[in-house]
Amino acid sequence: MDQDTLKALVGQAALAYVQPHSILGVGTGSTVNKFIEALAKAAIPLKGAVSSSEATTKLLQQAGIEVLDSSAVASLDWYIDGADEIDHQGFMVKGGGAALTREKIVADLADKFLCIADASKLVEVLGQFPLPVEVVPMSSAHIIRRFATLGGQATVRLAKDGQPLVTDNGMHIVDVRGLQITDPKAMEDLVSVWPGVVTVGIFAHHKASVCLLGSPEGVKTLTF
Ligand code: A5P
Repeated sequence: MDQDTLKALVGQAALAYVQPHSILGVGTGSTVNKFIEALAKAAIPLKGAVSSSEATTKLLQQAGIEVLDSSAVASLDWYIDGADEIDHQGFMVKGGGAALTREKIVADLADKFLCIADASKLVEVLGQFPLPVEVVPMSSAHIIRRFATLGGQATVRLAKDGQPLVTDNGMHIVDVRGLQITDPKAMEDLVSVWPGVVTVGIFAHHKASVCLLGSPEGVKTLTF
């Protein structure tokens, strides 16, 4: 089974967590896109969704789902999103799609985080996937130096035109290689207070409650 099929499998399985007439928090990425496809086909009536990116907003609207302004929603039951890595405690690295800030904001509105991922995302220790950090552009060089003191090699993410990628929030992303994130909460706390850091892509304070992991043997449910 290829990765695309596994993503479709967990996207479909996530429908079991969608309460009719609820408001859903929806993440960003290729796995979530499969979930939105499945949601559109299932036609479960919803009050609406809070979206984590311009890309997801577009897909939700195409699927006929109303996208609500996050400031008009006080709380959500579920936030559904993918991950770049997830460990056995439900801690995640996210931001491969550059949407980490809005993802964390919407995750914070939700009581529970449902992670949907193919089995390749499950790791023993976070850090093999380069850690995305959204930063204010003028701070990137200094933040890169700070990561070097932790043994990380950070670079500014570039767009297809070779210029720094600009996020939905007008910021840049640095990707950090070479970190072994053995204490995700401590690392999230440390990096979050560096001036210029908008969001670090470690989701330890907003870890998964449940993960649906797609493998050739089927969908495994991990609860944390
Ligand atoms: C987007 O910024 C990311 O956090 C995604 O949720 C994550 O990269 C997973 O994406 P895929 O489902 O495309 O692997």
